[in-house]
Amino acid sequence: MTISAPVQQRGAPPAPGSPRAQLEVTAVDKIYQARRGEVHALSDVNLSIARGEFISLVGRSGCGKTTLLRILAGLLPPSSGTVTADGESIWRGGKRNDEAFQHFGLVFQDANLFPWYTVADNIALPLKLRGVGKRARRARAAELCELVGLPGFENAYPRELSGGMRQRAAIARALSYDPTILLMDEPFGALDALTRDKMNLELQSIHAQAGATVVFVTHSISEAVFLADRVVLLTPRPGRIRSVTPVPLARPRSLETETSPEFQTIVRELRHELDEE
Ligand SMILES: Nc1ncnc2c1ncn2[C@@H]1O[C@H](COP(=O)(O)OP(=O)(O)O)[C@@H](O)[C@H]1O
Ligand SMILES: [Mg+2]
Repeated sequence: MTISAPVQQRGAPPAPGSPRAQLEVTAVDKIYQARRGEVHALSDVNLSIARGEFISLVGRSGCGKTTLLRILAGLLPPSSGTVTADGESIWRGGKRNDEAFQHFGLVFQDANLFPWYTVADNIALPLKLRGVGKRARRARAAELCELVGLPGFENAYPRELSGGMRQRAAIARALSYDPTILLMDEPFGALDALTRDKMNLELQSIHAQAGATVVFVTHSISEAVFLADRVVLLTPRPGRIRSVTPVPLARPRSLETETSPEFQTIVRELRHELDEE
């Protein structure tokens, strides 16, 4: 796998249109046509995300987090507005530009592993679909099991794994083809608090090693702050960006980071903003 150096420069966010911006969301609106009428899910969302940056997306349930992530992931067209990845428009007149998605990895709340495939086969499935040979797939799966903390589980079946382990396998699968952009929708939402803490630490180290740009949806403010370079807070109905909060805490962060006054101040201010909604 291509291991690029962790991004050290975590200063000001990229200006719109700047070459540092890898993912650009401009004036995105989403209106669902539901049976009971229209649902205005997102309104005028603008965001510029730098290469290697870790963005957490938070907000109340129903505020449009999943909608925005699905638009970024190419699973749902925006009603208006544009999204570009590396300068390429990912939606063209309601049609998805498949080329732009080759370097995207997706992880959802449910690991969605195939029960009849081993962990290694699940992880390497995207490679198989891309025509990579068996030997190379095995080697890559073993390497990824190591990276996500599942060494020796290559031949296990999903039913033999705990919830946390299944999410690790889902992350490994998303990383299998070296995505430059990793989109994650509440991937640890179903896990208990201790496992979640552990997964957050691992995700941090995976992000540092793999160097991918990450957009991470969560409804946990402390999880959002722990992981992010910037936390984006959405308001509900329609979802708009209420604030973008930089998290200037040193990396790597440890569980002690959460007891620091700086961490707690950022969390308190974000909770306060959320309560005002
Ligand atoms: N397919 C759909 N059709 C109609 N309304 C939808 C659909 N998907 C989501 N919505 C509505 O859009 C809003 C945003 O939903 P969602 O993006 O899932 O929010 P979140 O992930 O923040 O909980 C909600 O009001 C939800 O009910
Ligand atoms: Mg959601």
